[in-house]
Amino acid sequence: MKELKEYVRSIPDFPEPGIIFRDVTTILQDPDGLCLSIDELREKLQGIDYDMIVGPESRGFIFGVPVAYAEHKAFIPVRKKGKLPCETVSIDYDLEYGKETIEIHKDAIKPGDKVVIVDDLIATGGTTEAIAKLVEGLGGRIVKIVFVMELEGLKGRKKLLKYDVDSLIKYE
Ligand code: PRP
Ligand code: ADE
Repeated sequence: MKELKEYVRSIPDFPEPGIIFRDVTTILQDPDGLCLSIDELREKLQGIDYDMIVGPESRGFIFGVPVAYAEHKAFIPVRKKGKLPCETVSIDYDLEYGKETIEIHKDAIKPGDKVVIVDDLIATGGTTEAIAKLVEGLGGRIVKIVFVMELEGLKGRKKLLKYDVDSLIKYE
């Protein structure tokens, strides 16, 4: 049986020179890769008491929803600016390449809710740090953060020192 890392395709100089893009589509396009990724994420959450998974558009949806479904938890989408129809809170942040604004519905998280963040990848940690601020601004408590892939060289974990952070695959 293949290891999860073997399903990832790496593309140099995408979307700009100097970036090695870690492509999750090759995990997803193989049923064994898809199952393995979701099973390994679920394993990381064994024994964690939580109410909901929060995941960012778009690759956070791909991995967050199947885990939430399998564990019978709620899924709360974090979307890029202007997509959510009801009252939102929003935040600006920096990425490995570029800038973004993300939003979450104000009524999606109640004070005291126990939240797990799931995403495909941590690079600079900017996205997850921004999500954490949104969640905590609404009174939620982050009990675990789990990524499929971690780009260790970008030291994203430094932004998340106060959280329980885990990843399935690590790259230098
Ligand atoms: C990518 C990735 C993570 C984030 C990681 O999302 O899916 O969410 O960047 O980078 P960071 O740790 O530097 O914040 P992107 O915003 O490119 O959106 P996408 O999932 O729609 O491609
Ligand atoms: N998001 C931010 N940096 C990335 C990378 N190097 N590969 C894939 N997705 C990313």
